[in-house]
This record gives sequence, C-alpha cells and structure tokens, in this order.
Amino acid sequence: MALRVIGICGSMKPKSSTAFVINYALDVAKQAGAETEFYDISEHDLPFCDGRDDESAYPPQVQKFKNLIKSAQGIIIGTPEYHNSYTGSLKNALDLCGLAEFEHKMVGIIGVAGGGMGAANAIAHLRAVMRGVGAWVVPHQVSISHSGKIFSSDGILGDPALEKRLKKLGTDVTKYARLFAAGLLEVDE
Ligand SMILES: Cc1cc2nc3c(=O)[nH]c(=O)nc-3n(C[C@H](O)[C@H](O)[C@H](O)COP(=O)(O)O)c2cc1C
Repeated sequence: MALRVIGICGSMKPKSSTAFVINYALDVAKQAGAETEFYDISEHDLPFCDGRDDESAYPPQVQKFKNLIKSAQGIIIGTPEYHNSYTGSLKNALDLCGLAEFEHKMVGIIGVAGGGMGAANAIAHLRAVMRGVGAWVVPHQVSISHSGKIFSSDGILGDPALEKRLKKLGTDVTKYARLFAAGLLEVDE
C-alpha cells in the first residue's frame, strides 16, 4: 500500500498563499515517496456542522472529505491566521470529522499571517484541536509572517530559511507516517 499524505487548506481565498506553501510541502512529501493530494475547502461547498446524529444525512461532499482523510496516513494542514486563531472555514471542516478520520494520523501544521507576528496562535489552537481528534502532530511547525512577501515574481518562495522549514515539515510528516504505517510506532488503545 502506498503511503498517502494529503494537504488541507483552510483559506477560502483564490490564489491563497497558504495553498501555495502547503503544495510546496506536499511536493517534498512526494519526493520522499508519498502519494499526495491537495484539498481546498473553498472548492467543495461543505455545509455547516450541526452535530446531527445521522452523519450519513450530510450531502455527499462531506463523506468524500471524510473518506479522503481516512485514506491518508499523513496530513499537512495549513491555515491563515485570522484574528489570532485559525479560520472558521477550517474549524467547520474539522468539526465534520472526528476520531474516525484523524486518530493516529501524522499531522504537520503550517500557519500563514499577513502581519509581522506570525501565526503562532493559529498553530497552537489547531494543535489543541488535533489532539482532540487523536492525531499525532509532529513537533516541527511552520509559522510564516508577512505573507504578502512569500512569492517572488516567478512564484518561487525565494526565502531559503522558509524553504528549509517547509522541507522539514513535509519530510517529518512522511517519515513518521511511514513508521506508523509499518507498525513501528504501535500504540496501546
Ligand atoms: C478576517 C481576517 C483576519 C485576519 N487576522 C489576522 C491576524 O490576526 N494576524 C495577521 O497577521 N494577519 C491577519 N489576517 C491576514 C491574513 O493572515 C493574511 O492575509 C494571510 O496571508 C491570508 O492567507 P491566504 O492568502 O492563504 O488566504 C487576517 C485576514 C482576515 C481576512
């Protein structure tokens, strides 16, 4: 079975800088031998989570999203920083899922902020939510400030330190997901 690493983008913006850096990290995961897939929340018209008992009554795009997460061993989640947290659209998407999708999945987090303070709050809040759904969040994380400057004219990042951090994130998620998939990080229930 091929190792699968998916990316989930919490931005609803066209030409999102968050989507750009997630795809950069996914390319690294691909080079490390994983199959990759990128999921853009803005393209799938997910309904609001209302806590209904019969989750099968949600429209099919919800089941597709849940199945996509179930199919992966590694997940790279990226979010813009919105008012010192992560985006509401991402929270809703995550609320549509739970332990069944995320438990024992290896997760890497990227936060992207427009301002100079970085996205530490968005990342910390997301890390807490991931713990709530049983995911394993790798310690390395990528917080990006001044998002307006992360593209150069030809679309390349042009910041070696940031590229290095994104490479480590893509590599770590793939590496630890692989150990888990091989049973080398087996846990007691
Ligand atoms: C509603 C809203 C709230 C925001 N709050 C913050 C913030 O608290 N700190 C910050 O640095 N940038 C903030 N920003 C700027 C975004 O973090 C920034 O534009 C980011 O690059 C958006 O990522 P995207 O291009 O992937 O959508 C906010 C933007 C919006 C629309």
